[in-house]
Amino acid sequence: MAFFQWDDKYSVGVARFDQEHKKLIDLTNRFYDAMKEGKGRDVIGPTCRELVNYTKTHFANEELALAKTSYPNLAEHKREHNLFTNQALDLQKKVESGEPVVISSIGNFLKNWLINHIQGTDKTYSKYFS
Ligand code: FEO
Repeated sequence: MAFFQWDDKYSVGVARFDQEHKKLIDLTNRFYDAMKEGKGRDVIGPTCRELVNYTKTHFANEELALAKTSYPNLAEHKREHNLFTNQALDLQKKVESGEPVVISSIGNFLKNWLINHIQGTDKTYSKYFS
């Protein structure tokens, strides 16, 4: 069973963003699996970079789309995105420099952050796209 599985309860009711969230889950699993399987830095590094880059792409896509609606919480939403992006970039630096990391802590951090953000903050924009 995958470390992090999509559940329909995570749906934000916007097909495009559900797809992007599914891709984030998939990339999180690939990164987690690479660490768990003890792959080298040459494999773990790029999977981490891909996850971080796609996270930035997704955040930018959401922010652009939200700016075109009357969504009132964009500034706070962006703040959450920026905070996580910085944490993810720190993680990427550690991974790429070969610093030892605690796999379960990283996996759970990414998974819990995404679940909480999608179910808490992202869902507050659903009605602005209907
Ligand atoms: Fe789907 Fe606000 O990130």
